[in-house]
Amino acid sequence: MEDVKKKIEKLREEIRYHDYKYYVEDNPVISDAQYDKLMRQLQEFEEKYPGLVTPDSPTQRVSGKPLEKFGEVRHRIPMLSLANANSSEELTAFDSRIKRMLGIPMNRDRYKDIEYVAELKFDGLAISLAYERGILVNGSTRGDGFTGEEVTNNLKTIRSIPLRLMTKPPLPVIEVRGEVVMFTNDFKNLNREREKSGEPLFANPRNAAAGSVRQLDPSITAKRKLTMVSYGIGHSEGKTFSQHMEVLKYLKESGFMVNPNTSLCKSIQEAIGFCEKWEKKKESLSYNIDGIVIKVNNLDLQKRLGEVTRSPRWAIAYKFPAEQETTKIKDIIVQVGRTGALTPVAIMQPVEVGGVTVERATLHNEDEIKKKDVRVGDTVLIQRAGEVIPEVLKVIKEKRTGMEKPFVMPRHCPVCQADVYRPQGEVVSRCTGIACPAQIKERIKHWTSRNAMNIEGIGDAHIDEWVDSGLIKDPADLYFLKKEELLKFERMGDKLASNILNAIDKSRRTTLSRLIYAMGIRHAGEHIAEVLASHYDLGELRKATKEDLQKIQEIGPTIAESIEVFFKQKETEVFLNKLENAGLKISREKLISRKLEGKQFVLTGALSGFTRDEASKLIKQAGGRVTLSVSKNTDYVIAGTDSGSKYDKAKELHLKILNEEEFKKLIG
Ligand code: IVH
Repeated sequence: MEDVKKKIEKLREEIRYHDYKYYVEDNPVISDAQYDKLMRQLQEFEEKYPGLVTPDSPTQRVSGKPLEKFGEVRHRIPMLSLANANSSEELTAFDSRIKRMLGIPMNRDRYKDIEYVAELKFDGLAISLAYERGILVNGSTRGDGFTGEEVTNNLKTIRSIPLRLMTKPPLPVIEVRGEVVMFTNDFKNLNREREKSGEPLFANPRNAAAGSVRQLDPSITAKRKLTMVSYGIGHSEGKTFSQHMEVLKYLKESGFMVNPNTSLCKSIQEAIGFCEKWEKKKESLSYNIDGIVIKVNNLDLQKRLGEVTRSPRWAIAYKFPAEQETTKIKDIIVQVGRTGALTPVAIMQPVEVGGVTVERATLHNEDEIKKKDVRVGDTVLIQRAGEVIPEVLKVIKEKRTGMEKPFVMPRHCPVCQADVYRPQGEVVSRCTGIACPAQIKERIKHWTSRNAMNIEGIGDAHIDEWVDSGLIKDPADLYFLKKEELLKFERMGDKLASNILNAIDKSRRTTLSRLIYAMGIRHAGEHIAEVLASHYDLGELRKATKEDLQKIQEIGPTIAESIEVFFKQKETEVFLNKLENAGLKISREKLISRKLEGKQFVLTGALSGFTRDEASKLIKQAGGRVTLSVSKNTDYVIAGTDSGSKYDKAKELHLKILNEEEFKKLIG
C-alpha cells in the first residue's frame, strides 16, 4: 500500500509540473500524448484504490454536481475596488496626495520619490482563492466586496489555478487574489461555436469569463478556456512580506501565473511612462486590459495609507478610454460602395468610444441586421477597437419602447435610383446602375488610394465635387485634368492644383500589380494582383482565360471567373484604351525566384537586419505572400524581438516559427 501511495504521489507531482509548464509558462516539455499517458496511469490507480483519491489530485479538476444556487463566502479581508485616474495629471495628483499623507516633502527633495509597481489591469472577473496548508479549499467571486459567491468547483477546472501550491513548507492559510480572463482567441472561438449552435453570443471576453465562472454546472465551466492571473494576496498566516514585488515573486513560486509585464517604477513619472507605453501597445496582447494598476510597493507604507470606504489609498487604476459604449440609433442609412454593394450604416447619437467621438457604425448587411434584430430607435452596445470602423455589437432589448422601426433594404439605389439586386445565396445587395455616381466616386477613391495608384493630395471631397460636376467619369479622366478646370472649384488654389496635377503625373509611372489592384476587379485584392503581375504582362492578362488563370496555384475558380469576365467587358476595353492614351508607364515587378511560391508569412516583432517592408519585399520577390494575422493557413511566422500576440498564437497553432537567422537562410 505504501508503495502504491508513493507511486500515485509521484504521478501527481509529475502531472502538476507539466500542468505548470503548459498552462502557466506556456512552455510544455512533453508531448500531449505523453501527458495523456501519465493522466491515464493516475486514473487507473485511483480507480483501483478509491480511498487514495484526494481533492487536490489532478484528476479532480472536474467534479461535483450542478448546484441549485451558489453558496456564500465572506471575505476575511474585503475585496476592494480601485479609484480611477483618466489622465497623467490625475496620476501626479495621486502621487502628491500620498506624499502629503506620508509627510514626504514634495518639491524640495527630489530623491524622496515613492516606489510604485505598475501592472496591467486585466479585464475579467475578480476572484479569491483560499489555500490551507497548500491545498485549495475555497474559491469565490468578489460579489459586493464583502461577501462573494462560492464557485470552488468551477475554479478548479481552470488549469492555471494550482490545486496544490508549490512553495514549501506550505503556509497554514493564504488567500490569493486575481482575475479570471478569457484570451481573445479563445473568446472568438467560443462565440464562433455558439453562433453555429444558435446560442446567444457574448459581447466581450469579460462577459464570457464572468458567465463561464458563474455557472451552476462545473462541467460547463470546464469546457471554457479560462486563465487566471494573480496579482495579490488577502489574508495570510505564517509569512510576512515587506514589498508588493516580493508578494508577486512568492505567487509565482507558488505556481500562479503572474503577468511578466509588470514594472517596478522609481517614481510616478516612470509609472506614467508605463501607462503611455501600454496604451499604445495593448492591442498586441492576446488578452484584454482596460488600464494599468499602480500600487505603492512598500507594504508598510500601504498600511499607513490605509483605505477610504471602498478603495485603498495606496493604489489607483489608470483607465484607458472605454472601447464599448451604449448609444441610440437615430437612423439607418445605406452606403453604396465601388462595386455597387449596399452597406447599411447606423447613424447614432454621438458618443465617445476609445477616446474618439463616433456617430456612425457599420451594420455590415441585411442578414446581420436581422440576426441582431437592430431597429431604428434601439439602444445599442457599440465597439470601436483600434482603427477598426465602429460596429454594433448588440441591442439592449430592455430599453425598447415598442416604437422602434425595423430596417428594410431599399429596392432602389439611394443615389442613382437604379434597381437593387441581391443574387441568390449572397448576403450583399447591389445597385445595378452602371453610371451610379456613388460607385464612380468610390472607384476613383480606390484608384487614388495609397496601396493602389497612391495619388497624394486628392481628398474625398475633391472627387465628390469633380464627379458631381461631370468633370470626371472614371479614373482615367484624372490623367486629362487641366489646371483651369480645377481652379473653377472653391477652395482650390494655384498651389494645391499644381500639387494635385504633379501627384497625378507621378502616378503615371507605376507597377503592374498596383494597376491591377487599382482597377478594383472583384475578388482580386492586393495579393492576387501581385500574383497576376508576376505571371503575366498586361497584354497577356487581358487575353487569359479562366482555365489559364486557374493553373496558377493561388487562383481558384471564383477569382479566375471574375478576372475573365472583367477583361471581356466592353467597358474595360474602353477604359484600358483610355489609360493607354493617358501615357501610363507600367513596369513589372521581377520575381527573383519562385521558391516561396504559395507560402504564407506573418512578420512579428522587430528584425535587426531589415525593416518590415524590406523583409516583405524579399518574401514577395521569391513568390511568397505576407499577411497581417496568424491563422492555420500561415506557413511561417518570422519572429523578431518584442513579438507579441502573433507569436503566442503561432505557438498555439503549432506553426513554424523562424528567427531572423533562420529567415535569412530560408530566403537565401
Ligand atoms: S489590485 C485593493 N491589480 O480591477 C485593490 N486589481 O477595481 C485590489 N484588476 O475587479 C486590486 N487587474 O480584479 C489589482 N493587476 C491588478 C488588476 C486588478 C485587474 C481588477 C480587480 C478588480 C478591479 C479593481
